[in-house]
Amino acid sequence: MKVDGRHIRSIWLEPDGHTVSAIDQRRLPHQFVVAQLTGCADAADAIRSMLVRGAPLIGATAAYGVALAMRADSSDAALDRAYSMLIATRPTAINLKWALEEMRSMLRPLSSPDRAAAAYSRAAEIAEDDVAINRGIGQHGLALIEKIAATKKPGERVNVLTHCNAGWLATVDWGTATAPIYLAHDRGQAIHVWVDETRPRNQGASLTAWELGHHGVAHTVIPDNTGGHLMQHRMVDLVIVGTDRVTASGDVCNKIGTYLKALAAHDNGVPFYVALPSPTIDFSVDDGIAEIPIEQRAAEEVATMTGRTADGRIETVRIVPDNSPVANYGFDVTPARLVTGLITERGVLKADRAALSAAFPERIAAA
Ligand code: MRU
Repeated sequence: MKVDGRHIRSIWLEPDGHTVSAIDQRRLPHQFVVAQLTGCADAADAIRSMLVRGAPLIGATAAYGVALAMRADSSDAALDRAYSMLIATRPTAINLKWALEEMRSMLRPLSSPDRAAAAYSRAAEIAEDDVAINRGIGQHGLALIEKIAATKKPGERVNVLTHCNAGWLATVDWGTATAPIYLAHDRGQAIHVWVDETRPRNQGASLTAWELGHHGVAHTVIPDNTGGHLMQHRMVDLVIVGTDRVTASGDVCNKIGTYLKALAAHDNGVPFYVALPSPTIDFSVDDGIAEIPIEQRAAEEVATMTGRTADGRIETVRIVPDNSPVANYGFDVTPARLVTGLITERGVLKADRAALSAAFPERIAAA
């Protein structure tokens, strides 16, 4: 997407053919900083520290991490080490495992001298595919937005609520939940987005708001608990969120707080859609609540807030009493019964096993 008139992606390969660059998302919205990843350990650190985050971008970064590892040492042992280092970074987004399996199964049969070039080429393909998939999601989601727009009076906006950041920063480009929004906006559709701030790391307030602002999309940042009130007052036409893992039966794991939005949407008859690229489907698990590992992150994220002071300094302050324990579950699971539809690159599907397996038969065979 464009930032200050310049087209940019969240991750890219430098012209030297081996250095990987990524936007340091920990610094947004206050500072725009590009980080260079020159080894597999850099890629692993970038994922672990959330310099990059968002399920599809975690997958693409891991793929480049394997390529960086193969450039340094293309032995079987190095391939296994890279896999182990990268898979241990974050537990919930299945795109990480998907990308690592793709890389390892493609590289393993190759002779060692061929591996580095093949790894860079497959990583670039994974990144390009992500962009194409998200455009597909955008087209299918656009039809949903246009259908709602057709019921509006002239000049009325379509109001979308989203949680966390499933925008272009969370993917290679376009985003998943945001792709339909960007396409609708680009076509002149009047659209407005309610952006959940998404405590504790504030990916909505810091990243989604930054993206939408740079693209000129009207938006309002709201505290996380506001969505139910807005839905009761008919101020939300539809919810679109992203996801870190969708089970074979259509359960949806996404940033903590998503489930509460789905409940509020259900209670108020507001359509609740989940946008996902097919690498986010995990056909090996069925019951999302019982089977998906939920990341628990540092207490510091809950106990502190970071922001910019009036004189431009970035400061972190504590907001919880020193001795109060905190809990920091990163994700929750929304049962399939609360999901109106799954917006995929192959169309809008019912959130159930039959629809997912009919749309992605090749993924079941691989699971
Ligand atoms: O912890 P994060 O910032 O990696 O969580 C991101 C999300 O929950 C996104 O909604 C999800 O990864 C989908 S991104 C297209």
